Amino acid sequence: MDIELPLPKDADAIARVAKGAGVFTSEELDVVQEMVDAYFNPEPRDDHTFVIYRNGDPNSIAGFACYGPTPLAQGIWDLYWICVDRPHQAMGIGGVLLENIENQVRARGGRAIYLETSSSPEYQPARDFYQRHGYECAARFSDFYAPGEDKIVYRKSLV
Ligand SMILES: CC(C)(COP(=O)(O)OP(=O)(O)OC[C@H]1O[C@@H](n2cnc3c(N)ncnc32)[C@H](O)[C@@H]1OP(=O)(O)O)[C@@H](O)C(=O)NCCC(=O)NCCS
Repeated sequence: MDIELPLPKDADAIARVAKGAGVFTSEELDVVQEMVDAYFNPEPRDDHTFVIYRNGDPNSIAGFACYGPTPLAQGIWDLYWICVDRPHQAMGIGGVLLENIENQVRARGGRAIYLETSSSPEYQPARDFYQRHGYECAARFSDFYAPGEDKIVYRKSLV
């Protein structure tokens, strides 16, 4: 199994993969960095968790995801980030990361996973990916991120 919990030495690689995906703004990359820093400082915490896909190389990663329990909601979890670096996309790694998260959330009694994404064309592959994996549009907020760019909330029930 190539899915692992990251070690502190993987922090830079996570940031590199996020940047290399080519869809995240600099503000979003800053948030990824903050969540990585928070996760490792001073030691792993349980409000959000990272998982990584190593692809056989102990010194690099091909993808990562970050998820955690939604505060003040029973059995609801948020998927904050999922990202595979460009050369490794469309090889099934995103699907393996997502299934791993769903299994972990189910094992911890989770009822559903929620995630947010943008309606912009760059995120069409991500929206297709989520829908293929059983995520349904639960809400849509017009002109949320910018005029003409909606926020779409996807949900997958695990029960
Ligand atoms: C969205 C994302 C995480 C999906 O990861 P991925 O590893 O490319 O996903 P998968 O490989 O599991 O599935 C994607 C496609 O590859 C296909 N695929 C899966 N395994 C395959 C294989 N072994 N050989 C060929 N194709 C394969 C899937 O059928 C799917 O194809 P389709 O879109 O034509 O139906 C990735 O594209 C990504 O990081 N995008 C940029 C960041 C982003 O948008 N993140 C989400 C917002 S937070």
